[in-house]
Amino acid sequence: MPAQTSLGRALTQAREQTDELFRLVRPDSLYERPIPERHRIIFYIGHLEAFDWNLIARYALDKPSFHPEFDHLFAFGIDPPPGRLPSDQPSDWPGLAEVERYNERTRAEIDELLDHVPEQLLNVAVEHRLMHAETFAYILHNLAYERKRLSPPMGPPLDDSRQKTTACPTEPFVAIPAGDAVLGLDPTEAFGWDNEFRAHTVPVAAFSVARNKVTNGEYLAFVEEGASAPFFWVERGGRWFYRGMFSEYPLPLECPVYVRFDEAQAYAHWRGMRLPTEAEFHRAASLAPAPDPAIDNFDFRHWDPISVPGTTEHAAQLTGNGWEWTSTVFAPFPGFTPFPFYQNYSEPFFDGQHYVLKGASPRTASGLARPSFRNWFRPQYPYLYATFRLVQS
Ligand code: AVJ
Ligand code: FE
Repeated sequence: MPAQTSLGRALTQAREQTDELFRLVRPDSLYERPIPERHRIIFYIGHLEAFDWNLIARYALDKPSFHPEFDHLFAFGIDPPPGRLPSDQPSDWPGLAEVERYNERTRAEIDELLDHVPEQLLNVAVEHRLMHAETFAYILHNLAYERKRLSPPMGPPLDDSRQKTTACPTEPFVAIPAGDAVLGLDPTEAFGWDNEFRAHTVPVAAFSVARNKVTNGEYLAFVEEGASAPFFWVERGGRWFYRGMFSEYPLPLECPVYVRFDEAQAYAHWRGMRLPTEAEFHRAASLAPAPDPAIDNFDFRHWDPISVPGTTEHAAQLTGNGWEWTSTVFAPFPGFTPFPFYQNYSEPFFDGQHYVLKGASPRTASGLARPSFRNWFRPQYPYLYATFRLVQS
């Protein structure tokens, strides 16, 4: 392999990250489909390499295909509208050995080509893989515990130092004065996905933002009033438990609640408040301290949420400990153009059926936790690590 550049090293590290995740699945469970709206696990094993191969070897460098059937089979994931679930069977998919042979060869060939690949495309390959390190974690979350290999010592949140902080003397909201929010990226600035361009400012009226994300304990009051329980909760013998990545444990009341968009919005309305817009989130984040993976819980430090801080001067954990739903429908910024080499990354989702999420979850790589990064999901998609905070005008 040629001497590695920093992007080459980033690709190697991202591969280690995803290899390690796939190793958590017991070999007899690779054809399971833990999320009905997503492909079976075996698809993701082939997808990461097929994606890199199609982008780097085929698109950028016009190399001949050695397995066109797999290049196509593993090219794209799925996002069916509600009620239109896939019906393929395990036997419709190739065997693991053949997929592994394909993967080994694509990696070896790509490694020989790295010096000739434009940096932008290498960034796309690395970030695409890291996004799947997160979305595959959602999938793995829903694989039965006994189908996972024994795991790092995971139980309750590792960092519960702040769970004990009882006093919350500060007013729970921070006032944000009227001002401009800066959204997006300038093309010369850094790598970004098509939907992050261009940089522009949006005037934002004064508002106040909650210091903390809404917690399980707060949401419990809503459930006790008759709202349905979030997807990540389970009731056993009249008590609530959180379905963690590797075990169930008593509902951690001080941790943020993972919810769907429609649940977040209903809770906000119940409290007489609302969700922030994308621009309001930017404005609040620009006035808060820079995110730190160890404090804010992102970049693979934990599998599950940690507590919200008991006291905090600013809006806390805006980036980390769960994506935050915004009330903004995912739509292009002014001047949007799709990447010619990946036209379907964002554009198909500008359909009015997806909402913007900002920030990061425990399973978001630090490289993706930049202010301009935009995530999006359907409002009733319950599987992702999504939290929310309240704002008031
Ligand atoms: C940006 C997380 C919404 O998972 O649908 C991965 C990322 N796109 N492969 C998704 C993505 C194609 C995307 N999200
Ligand atoms: Fe993908």
